[in-house]
Amino acid sequence: MNSSFNLTLAALCCVVVVLGGLPFSSNAQLDNSFYRDTCPNVHSIVREVLRNVSKTDPRILASLMRVHFHDCFVQGCDASILLNTTSTITSEQTAFGNNNSIRGLDVVNQIKTAVENACPNTVSCADILALAAEISSVLAHGPDWKVPLGRRDSLTANLTLANENLPSPAFNLSELKKNFDRQGLDTTDLVALSGAHTIGRGQCRFFVDRLYNFSNTGNPDPTLNTTYLQTLRTICPNGGPGSTLTDLDPTTPDTFDSAYYSNLRIQKGLFESDQVLASTSGADTIAIVNSFNNNQTLFFEAFKASMIKMSKIKVLTGSQGEIRKQCNFVNGNSGLATKVIRESSEDGIVSSY
Ligand code: HEM
Repeated sequence: MNSSFNLTLAALCCVVVVLGGLPFSSNAQLDNSFYRDTCPNVHSIVREVLRNVSKTDPRILASLMRVHFHDCFVQGCDASILLNTTSTITSEQTAFGNNNSIRGLDVVNQIKTAVENACPNTVSCADILALAAEISSVLAHGPDWKVPLGRRDSLTANLTLANENLPSPAFNLSELKKNFDRQGLDTTDLVALSGAHTIGRGQCRFFVDRLYNFSNTGNPDPTLNTTYLQTLRTICPNGGPGSTLTDLDPTTPDTFDSAYYSNLRIQKGLFESDQVLASTSGADTIAIVNSFNNNQTLFFEAFKASMIKMSKIKVLTGSQGEIRKQCNFVNGNSGLATKVIRESSEDGIVSSY
């Protein structure tokens, strides 16, 4: 009696374990080989598009890495950043950190078209962003990792949350730490992920106050290297256009390496949010900056781990969300039809189509 009860219990446990591991259960996990059977070439399809585009636009690698970051920090890595404004969606693209700043969304669509041609209705836009970030690192001569896949796309966007969650380049260290902590990311993640500023460009408007009127003092930021200050003043004259671009890493602008950290050590961080990592007196980030500067392998290992951690923030899996057909719109009927369903829903649960 007792032993047959134990057997039944064991069998039940087995069923629970097996069901729990199925990709379509409600608490499904991300998986390194999620598309092995359904879209085995997805990685090389994304890589080919990026390799081609980066021949004429090397900055695209930086831009797509940033899109993934801005996606993950707003209601999780769910491609909400890609949604355009419609009658039911208010796009995140007009948030302060995104507006006239985020780029590469056309290339995301190009990738999606190539992926849809090979494997229709299979690969989510959120996974495309995670893959593009990983492949961008490799193409910029940075580290390679296997990003876990199986994310699904959101049915909503959140402009208010985008304005709250995307960090400002004028943040001090405690604001940065708080901002990352909200996402479950620690101080090592903050320093490692900021290392993405080893590639890409920044507009004058995001750091011009450091050159002429730092914290309303009428003087430049004292933690800015004086030679670098002169260079930046030539690029960004006082009262000049805010959209002029400069390299985030003045040493090796398109190569993913540890020069970001050696720049910080000689006060050549472009944004206040960069320089505070090395120049805040007594801060625990200084030792981390130094260790990444002294040992590029250590930086690469930390960057990989933190990118994987970031890519898992509040993901939708299993039957949650959907696989968007077009990354800029949720599937199904027009916004109006969705609105009618939303209003007629008695239990307040929003229909997914
Ligand atoms: C720590 C807080 C961060 C702040 C305050 C910040 C802020 C900024 C700003 C203001 C720009 C310039 C945008 C423009 O001029 O249009 C920028 C560019 C960039 N950011 Fe960050 N960022 C942060 C963290 C990150 C993280 C975690 C990543 C990725 C893992 C990242 C990747 C990039 C890249 C690659 C660029 C260059 C984009 C391009 O050239 O299109 N940033 N960031």
